Amino acid sequence: MINKAVLPVAGFGTRCLPASKAIPKEMITIVDRPVIQYVVAEAVAAGIRDIVLVTHGSKSAIENHFDKHFELEASLEAKGKHELLEELRSIVPGDVNIISVRQSEPLGLGHAVLCARPVVGDDEPFAVLLPDVLVDDVGLEHNDLAGMIDAFARTRRSQLMVEEVPHELVYKYGIVDTGGEIPGPGESRQLAGVVEKPSVEEAPSDLAVIGRYVLPGRIFPLLAETPPGAGNEIQLTDAIEALRRTEGVDAWRMRGKTYDCGHQLGYLEAILAYGRRHARYGEGFRELLARYANEE
Ligand code: G1P
Repeated sequence: MINKAVLPVAGFGTRCLPASKAIPKEMITIVDRPVIQYVVAEAVAAGIRDIVLVTHGSKSAIENHFDKHFELEASLEAKGKHELLEELRSIVPGDVNIISVRQSEPLGLGHAVLCARPVVGDDEPFAVLLPDVLVDDVGLEHNDLAGMIDAFARTRRSQLMVEEVPHELVYKYGIVDTGGEIPGPGESRQLAGVVEKPSVEEAPSDLAVIGRYVLPGRIFPLLAETPPGAGNEIQLTDAIEALRRTEGVDAWRMRGKTYDCGHQLGYLEAILAYGRRHARYGEGFRELLARYANEE
């Protein structure tokens, strides 16, 4: 029922420098594949078929990663490397489309999402995934995004994925007001408000919006009218708050675990989590971990 996902990838990734100087931060590797590949796989697992990248001219490596590399495939075929070939071909399943649009100026997340308007249109609901955040849904039959899509189908209200963050860090996030009632994991609750990067004193809760949204196309006209907000950027959160006042918006409390790969320690933790259980490298990696754990 939701076919399209918008992935804003135009940012320069200053938090990841120097790693992100010449390669996009979304192309930084977690074990054996770039972060963005996990995020696209998450969207595809939730039933999405059109991936809309909102990107920048300096980040063509992302589009190349999802494009067919004919010469490479022919060379692997000739060498009989069939397993590797299959792995490359499965990066984008046959029924999935990768579409890209440009964000020509860095005017904020709200502006980035607005750049996808010509592809998504004002009549169709869609998902937004911020690729800095890896959502680890291991062990869940339906991932959190799929749960949010189901909740949207039931309620027709937008869904924002939230998780609890330490109170002193609320100023980094969009923070929701659930009117005192905190939804349990895998549940959603209608919001009494959402505010972008509040001060620690003014935050309405410790529940932060964590980079996954299910929104109606009606958000686009609201985004087009949203003035710059926190950080002097056009904020998605501000348009969502305007939407909430007219038709209500829900917070979906996530069940999985997140890693902020736009930050070095989050990215290192993701490598630990994904590396330990990797089918090919997990065993060797666990041995390495044990060896290093015993070193000073
Ligand atoms: C963005 C959103 C914010 C959200 C955060 C984490 O902020 O504007 O509401 O909580 O992502 O997903 P940014 O990290 O781009 O400053």
